[in-house]
Amino acid sequence: MSHASPGMKPVLPLPSHALLLLAALLPATSLLAADAPGRFTGSPSCATSMCHGGAGELRHQTTVWQKQDIHSRTYNTLVNARSAQIAAALKIPDATTSSRCTTCHAPFHDVPKSAFLADIIKPAEGVSCESCHGPAEKWIRSHTRPDFSHKDRILLGLRDLNHLYVRANSCVACHQTVDPALLAAGHPELLFELDGQAVAQPKHWREKGDWHGPKAWLVGQAVALREMSAQLNREKNSNEKLTAPWSASLWLLQKLDGLDSSLPALKPAANATQAHPAADTLARRAAEMEWSHDLTRQTLQRLAKTHAEFADAKTPRLQQARRAERLVLALDRLTAPLDKATLAKLEPDLKELFALAQSLPDFAPDKFAKSLETFAKKL
Ligand code: HEC
Ligand code: HEC
Ligand code: HEC
Repeated sequence: MSHASPGMKPVLPLPSHALLLLAALLPATSLLAADAPGRFTGSPSCATSMCHGGAGELRHQTTVWQKQDIHSRTYNTLVNARSAQIAAALKIPDATTSSRCTTCHAPFHDVPKSAFLADIIKPAEGVSCESCHGPAEKWIRSHTRPDFSHKDRILLGLRDLNHLYVRANSCVACHQTVDPALLAAGHPELLFELDGQAVAQPKHWREKGDWHGPKAWLVGQAVALREMSAQLNREKNSNEKLTAPWSASLWLLQKLDGLDSSLPALKPAANATQAHPAADTLARRAAEMEWSHDLTRQTLQRLAKTHAEFADAKTPRLQQARRAERLVLALDRLTAPLDKATLAKLEPDLKELFALAQSLPDFAPDKFAKSLETFAKKL
């Protein structure tokens, strides 16, 4: 998440409709002085019925977020019984006011007062409009003006969530790495997967026609690997809970080396220090490339071919289980766009692979290898 830096020029706390009127009177260029990031205005400033608080697909964003999207309730999670247990284990008196929890569940709690335009903004908003779209002070007045291009709005700090690399970075900030002490205290393990999570989030927008799930999957996996690498690099007390998912993720992406000439190879990366920049370059390039159904098929085939590796008894079983965990999620996203007939043919094998990958301690690599081989043959 990017937080606004404090100490910026004061701006009159006008209500949003007045800001919109004001914006209509100013020439476009006078609004384009985007030196520092703007301040947060809070979700009520987006929620008037003429803007994003109305009915119908064009104005329903606030309703979808409030009624269907779990992001509007992430604060409430901090007062449930499981949070109380986690907090007790960490000796945190109150999860709702500890930045160890609020950075992801109630991000406004950690924003300094000076970065707010109004004082009605509450941490209880949870993961709010501006947590994803960026602080609105500088663009709220102008983002409805027809003489402003998409680029002008981005210049003023509206986050370009249409761009897959930008979107992946926004989500992964809260969805992949968590302090190992929190995991030990019972926090669920996080696993970022951009395509699946973008599909699962109740939509208050319509994905553009060129949305390619498998491409989103690849960009998401690459930023996830980058984040895990960065965490390993800074973590003094690294353990198996951190290294195993990291190495499984690296293993998976290395299978795609050479898939497209525009993508860098990950093979040479032998440790987290080397994997960090390599994964970032992979994510950036993948976000820029032209994706095709043919690439989806090739990716699937490469991943399915790993059945021989699962049959190899030399690799530790837990390592195999972690690889299987990432692999089945990949197969799920990569098969989603296949034609109905092919998908129907693969469905029983996919189900079996999922069932086999479900339990880490009971993982049976030989069974998984057999099932994956059948899957590969049917592809
Ligand atoms: C790095 C971001 C991050 C931090 C920091 C974080 N969480 Fe979470 N938390 C998440 C995400 C994302 C999920 C959803 C996991 C899923 O469903 O896959 C989650 C899920 C949970 C859940 C399970 C969901 C539920 O409804 O019961 C609880 C409880 C929880 N968090 C409490 C806490 C507490 C307490 C803290 C502080 C000690 C904390 N979290 C810190 C990101 C975070
Ligand atoms: C968890 C992240 C997240 C939150 C929270 C969020 N958005 Fe979005 N929003 C997105 C993504 C991703 C898109 C799709 C990419 C795009 O169009 O920019 C989007 C798209 C939009 C669009 C464009 C709609 C279209 O069809 O082009 C509007 C308007 C919008 N959001 C408003 C809001 C408002 C208002 C809120 C708060 C009530 C909100 N968003 C909360 C992530 C989020
Ligand atoms: C500021 C932190 C934050 C950001 C940014 C964020 N999320 Fe979340 N998200 C959470 C938390 C915290 C939860 C856990 C909700 C709970 O149970 O309290 C969550 C839950 C979810 C869930 C439901 C649980 C799951 O993991 O399947 C989905 C889906 C999701 N987020 C998708 C997204 C997507 C897509 C984006 C980017 C467009 C995004 N999120 C950005 C914090 C964030």
